[in-house]
Amino acid sequence: MINIVLFGKPGAGKGTQADFLKHKYNLVHLSTGDIFRFNMKNDTELGKLAKSYIDNGDLVPDEVTINMLQDEVEKNPQAKGFLFDGFPRTIAQAEALDKFLAGKNQEITATVALEANDEILVQRLLERGKTSGRADDQDEEKIRNRYQEYNEKTAPLMDYYKAQHKFYAVDGIGTIEEVTERLSLVLDTFQ
Ligand code: AP5
Repeated sequence: MINIVLFGKPGAGKGTQADFLKHKYNLVHLSTGDIFRFNMKNDTELGKLAKSYIDNGDLVPDEVTINMLQDEVEKNPQAKGFLFDGFPRTIAQAEALDKFLAGKNQEITATVALEANDEILVQRLLERGKTSGRADDQDEEKIRNRYQEYNEKTAPLMDYYKAQHKFYAVDGIGTIEEVTERLSLVLDTFQ
């Protein structure tokens, strides 16, 4: 069983790459952003709570996110492994995930980061915002706030996983196929 954390700044290409990797490595793809957006679209209690944070580009509180993620893992008892996309995003989330997986005699196999500079990523998100309807892509201020959240709360996870010798970084710039190829070179080593 391999459990992969796909890591990267907003717009780095996590969701795009996950769509290929989940098939290639037979992993259940869990994107906390997608799950929140599904709940927002269906106007659930979770969706209403998450909306106030997401629309401003703030992280949803840890307790809510951790419980939601654990529920999603429990819904997939037959999974051959998970591809975590957008989770963990804080040290508290990473610690909770390690503890939760340890309770199932599992662990994170590797964290793979897609690297790209902010200016390219901001342009990607502004472009996507024209058609995606995502409120958090609509203006540069909200996008910049997402990067601030990333820098303050998520970037420290790189050291967390480096200390566990589980951190790998690949260049996230290039065609989608080129980036998939780079990620595959890392993930193939765990097959
Ligand atoms: P989430 O949905 O996870 O958003 P994000 O991290 O900001 O990531 P994006 O979906 O914007 O980018 P991505 O890296 O997936 O890139 P994509 O493939 O889409 O989270 C949204 C919000 O939910 C958070 O801000 C937070 O409020 C909340 N949330 C989620 N998880 C949470 C957690 N754990 N804790 C607390 N709160 C949480 O690509 C981006 C664009 O670039 C696309 O248009 C794509 O077509 C394009 N693109 C992709 N690859 C390439 C390429 N190689 N070349 C050119 N263009 C490319």
